Amino acid sequence: MSSEAILAKNLIGKKIVLGICGSIAAYKSALLTRLLIRSGAEVRVCMTKSATTFVSPLTFSTLSKNKVLTDLAANQEWNDHVEWGLWADLILIAPATANSLSKMANGITDNFLTAVYLSARCPVIIAPAMDLDMWKHPSTLRNLKQLREDGVHTINVEKGELASGLSGEGRLAEPINILVYLDNFFYHSKKLLGQKVLITAGPTQEKFDPVRYISNHSSGKMGIALAEAFAEQGAEVMLVHGPVNIELPDHPSILLFPIKTAEEMMNKCAELHPTSNIAVFSAAVSDYRLKSTSEKKIKKTGPEGISLELIQNPDIAARLGRNKTPEQIHIGFALETDDEEANAIDKLKKKNFDLIVLNSLNDKGAGFGVDTNKVSLITQNNVQKLELKSKVEIAKDIVSFAFQHFIVKKNN
Ligand code: PMT
Repeated sequence: MSSEAILAKNLIGKKIVLGICGSIAAYKSALLTRLLIRSGAEVRVCMTKSATTFVSPLTFSTLSKNKVLTDLAANQEWNDHVEWGLWADLILIAPATANSLSKMANGITDNFLTAVYLSARCPVIIAPAMDLDMWKHPSTLRNLKQLREDGVHTINVEKGELASGLSGEGRLAEPINILVYLDNFFYHSKKLLGQKVLITAGPTQEKFDPVRYISNHSSGKMGIALAEAFAEQGAEVMLVHGPVNIELPDHPSILLFPIKTAEEMMNKCAELHPTSNIAVFSAAVSDYRLKSTSEKKIKKTGPEGISLELIQNPDIAARLGRNKTPEQIHIGFALETDDEEANAIDKLKKKNFDLIVLNSLNDKGAGFGVDTNKVSLITQNNVQKLELKSKVEIAKDIVSFAFQHFIVKKNN
């Protein structure tokens, strides 16, 4: 995504269900869809039957690059509304008509849009649009009061000329104003605003001649997923990463610090660590490097082997663990092949971690390179085993764990 395309940075990566009801203002939802997409959101549109008489679903499927649903049980799928409700980070109903507000306030699910509303676990925002007398009608006011009590957020209608020819309150908020509202909404719902997070990721490479190095199989996927999950919650992330072959995050709150060797990673982390509130050590750092490196390619001389003398690299997590202040939180990783839990607990203590994330190479789908991981979250007094899931989901779980167990507690 190019940076000039970002209109509202707090919408990046957000999954938004846009519900469109039957109002002449539905045409504005086309522009709104474009603004959401240009801000980096992923948008799925659903429409009531009457909305499709104002604007074609084709307009929205083209703009959102997703199928538009209008019917319950479309394509013989009866539970799409449940899947959409669980998928969404936010449900936005714009325009929301008096009819749909009334159905939502009373739990009537006779169409796809209201069924998604009832299935959703995420926040719901409505942007009503109707004629001024409908807007002031006691039944509309009653329904709006009920919806507010149910936790629904309302974007105020705007004043002006209405489709009926009357003038007054009832116009759908302008798409740009809706976008600004959503941007603020997501900004304020972030749990880690003001937190600075240092993350190490990927492998290190320890050169021994101009063409060879010692390294490991870390792809950087786990560390990058963590960087994105922390940034998603409003943290400013400093990602110190070794050489990786996957796309690096392009996020305004993630600063990238590429390094090659363990020593370079150590120096960069030592510089950044004092400013961080949280440090996460997910990198697979080479424990050893060559005592001396050759400026020229080491030649094969004869049938006999060669010996390379290795010396220890700095242990970044252990060193920074010794400088950790009581306000700082350290999260480490342990990649084990045997005696997994005991080894992880040992590292938790020795490296002064608050939490260690254990992954074992004995678990299928866990560890290096793959998109999934199977981890246990281990603290001084608790072990929580998570099921196999994507690294993106694991990263979100780690962020939630850190928030609940350390940040909330430190702030109380
Ligand atoms: O990058 P991926 O392909 O997605 O793979 C993810 C991963 C398997 C690399 C990741 O989940 C993981 O387990 N990272 C830690 C790997 C590791 O080096 O574990 P360890 O048990 O050797 O080290 C313990 C801790 O000390 C780790 O937090 C490590 O980052 C840190 N350490 C280790 C050595 C060293 N010299 N400096 C360190 O900071």
